[in-house]
Amino acid sequence: MKTVDGAAQIESEVEARYRERTAGSRARHVEAQRYLPGGETRSSTWYAPYPTYMVSGDGAWLKDCDGNRYADFLNNYTSLIHGHAQPALVEEAADQLTRGTVFGSASEPQMALAKLLIERVASIEMLRFTNSGTEATMMMMRAARAFTGRDIIVKMDGGYHGSHDFVEVNVSPDLDAAEQPAAQVEGRGVPDSVLNAVMVAPYNDLASLEKLLSEHHHRIAGIIVEPMPNAGGMAPPAPGYLRGLRQLADQYGVLLLFDEIVTLRLSSGGLQEAEDVLPDMTALAKIIGGGFPVGAFGGRADIMAQFSPAAGADFLYHSGTFNGNNITMTAGVAAMNLLDQASIDRINDLGDRLAADINAIFGSMGIRAQCLGYGSLQQIQWTDAPVISLRHAARAGQGIGRLRELLHLELLNRGVYTSNRGMFCISTPMNDAEIDFALAALEGALLTLAPYMREAAPRLLRG
Ligand SMILES: Cc1ncc(COP(=O)(O)O)c(C=O)c1O
Repeated sequence: MKTVDGAAQIESEVEARYRERTAGSRARHVEAQRYLPGGETRSSTWYAPYPTYMVSGDGAWLKDCDGNRYADFLNNYTSLIHGHAQPALVEEAADQLTRGTVFGSASEPQMALAKLLIERVASIEMLRFTNSGTEATMMMMRAARAFTGRDIIVKMDGGYHGSHDFVEVNVSPDLDAAEQPAAQVEGRGVPDSVLNAVMVAPYNDLASLEKLLSEHHHRIAGIIVEPMPNAGGMAPPAPGYLRGLRQLADQYGVLLLFDEIVTLRLSSGGLQEAEDVLPDMTALAKIIGGGFPVGAFGGRADIMAQFSPAAGADFLYHSGTFNGNNITMTAGVAAMNLLDQASIDRINDLGDRLAADINAIFGSMGIRAQCLGYGSLQQIQWTDAPVISLRHAARAGQGIGRLRELLHLELLNRGVYTSNRGMFCISTPMNDAEIDFALAALEGALLTLAPYMREAAPRLLRG
């Protein structure tokens, strides 16, 4: 049995290999810190000792500034469903660039993307575009409050819907709650007053939600939920859960708001189609912009009609300098046209194969962990117990030392780009070759980290 120094040694070896391969990234990071706090502009893309600087992408592969190549299983946090520089998409966007990016006017490209999305997502009768998913959930929630004349939106404990104040509540789940989670603002700078307009319920738990609704429904405008939470842990909806949400929303006269910003990629009409549950409103983003900044929110025509300036003096104002800009809209149409149900089924199958083989690796190595998700979205959970609520997912990340960070770095050392929370997202240029590559890298990385796990995360090892 090794000593604790063994774990420390593995940590320093993994980090030393990372530093050896990425001297150029380190130099750029040192300089970037003079201009950008932490050298970065997204909290999610920062990691220690410093993030890798990617310089180009081609299909399923990325290249960093030191010339290393990576199979890209991050895909800009699930948004690049066609990987990088997809030729037809590049051609359409480049062609539009030569004719103008945005005119500050009504435009046909936004009509084309709206029509296409409405044809695909059954519950969306009308929609409006934003520049991010954050704005999409913010406006969807505002629309629900305006339509019902009530202030409160119920969100799930551990659910992530972007970074506006009204969803910066219980993004980290309440781990101490015996039953009903306590609502808490997530970080400094978010006023406690948002708690007047947000309540929290545990995901995958209809009984707790019903209790909340029965007591407070007259003040509740809607329930916002990701049909399968991604940032919170890829815990699939329990059988009947989404349908149960629809029934409760109807029973208590509140709106059901789906955040399909990530899950739209799982089926042509989103997870709502695959699970056959229609929400009142839906927020979209990520894949619908063809790689450019985007968001959209839409749903029932009577709710969306509030946004028409022709509706009268108290119409809902919603603007944004680059909303519906020509480049995003054109690229979005191209990306969605390339994404038929057959190509979605293919990447979902690749994701299912990846998950099954990762689970087989965990089994053969005696590691108490599992790969959890749905089709093209998968995530490692460091437990072999069922992960149903997002509280279970958060607990799985506890008591494992720096395992997640080290696995992330060691996968980078082996040419696999993922998120530091252990997510694997499949893109259409991927084939079995990329899956095999990721599996070999993961198996090698776990072998490297086995001595670390024995000492810093012994609960993960059987026998
Ligand atoms: C489920 C979900 N909702 C909302 C957002 C926010 O989208 P954006 O980053 O475009 O603001 C994200 C981003 O990761 C997300 O995963």
